[in-house]
Amino acid sequence: KKKIAVMTSGGDSPGMSPAVRAVVRSGIYFGCDMFAVYEGYEGLVRGGDLLKKMEWEDVRGFLSHGGTDIGTARCAEFRERKGRLQGAYNMVVNGIDALVVCGGDGSLTGADLFRSEWPSLIEELVQTGRLTAAEAEPHRHLTIVGLVGSIDNDMAGTDATIGAYSALERISEMVDYIDETANSHSRAFVVEVMGRHCGWLGLMSGLSTGADYIFIPERPPKHGKWQDELKEICSRHRGYGKRNTTVIVAEGAIDDELQPITAETVKDVLVELGLDTRITTLGHVQRGGTAVAYDRMLSTLQGVEAVKAVLESTPDIPSPVIGIAENQIVRQPLVDSVRDTKMVATAIEAKDFDKAMSLRDSTFAE
Ligand code: F6P
Repeated sequence: KKKIAVMTSGGDSPGMSPAVRAVVRSGIYFGCDMFAVYEGYEGLVRGGDLLKKMEWEDVRGFLSHGGTDIGTARCAEFRERKGRLQGAYNMVVNGIDALVVCGGDGSLTGADLFRSEWPSLIEELVQTGRLTAAEAEPHRHLTIVGLVGSIDNDMAGTDATIGAYSALERISEMVDYIDETANSHSRAFVVEVMGRHCGWLGLMSGLSTGADYIFIPERPPKHGKWQDELKEICSRHRGYGKRNTTVIVAEGAIDDELQPITAETVKDVLVELGLDTRITTLGHVQRGGTAVAYDRMLSTLQGVEAVKAVLESTPDIPSPVIGIAENQIVRQPLVDSVRDTKMVATAIEAKDFDKAMSLRDSTFAE
């Protein structure tokens, strides 16, 4: 019987719990023994109670739960070989030989490294006498499958990461609220949204709420010039009779000289324009709450696909990541997805912003 573990890792996102449910239940449906690794990679390193066998009813209700019911962490120990060695040991003694990881860029990169090191980790466990050759033999190969869980929508190879649309919904709702009080007082608001180095949440929430101006890392405004442009646009909109001004700043926003653009600097410009201005940093409300229907659908379809990918895996197939492209659930090599995601960061560092924008997926790139 195949033994598959599922884990959530990195920053949580709405849809992670539904993904765990889908993996556990489809695994059971396909006749596998299913496990959950609690607390992300920390659970793999510590083992014991954090590696728990899951039954059908253990994930009851998960579909409408926000965050992740099996916990998550950003684990420093797993970044060291020593931590990964302990993780491998805990998996082998529990008979687990496949791992479905739902997380962002960093977590999935870690997963792929774990797989590539696996044979040498097993060898070391045998050499140091922690495993016998007989114990190690059925575990010479590790299957890893990635599910992209992140509110940032920053991973190449998928049009949407699990959680991005829920966060977008949350932000849009909050900006609607802010617009009402802004309208009452004829005020300006600078709203800082999450996204790390990716502007998807900023761009799409700005579009969804009709913001006056949006700052995102992939399309930075001109150094020293954006202030005048911002003033010109906001006054033009005021001239049309608008009583509120809303500017969205993605947390990774920069100008074309790679200087950070913060909510504070934007506020100062609006104040110079004579606008009574407030800053709202939305923070972790963006990651909270239950998943919107799209993310529940995405995590469920992708969770089932992840288990199928585990069952079809062979040592010569590179670890896949499950994505959605043009409304189809797709698999592609995890390494390609990680490499293409890094290319965006490299393009931004090289100030090749057209390239950065075109490397983003689907609607974003338009
Ligand atoms: O990657 C998800 C994310 O919410 C980013 O948008 C943000 O930069 C970061 O995580 C915040 O991390 P933390 O929850 O550790 O403060």
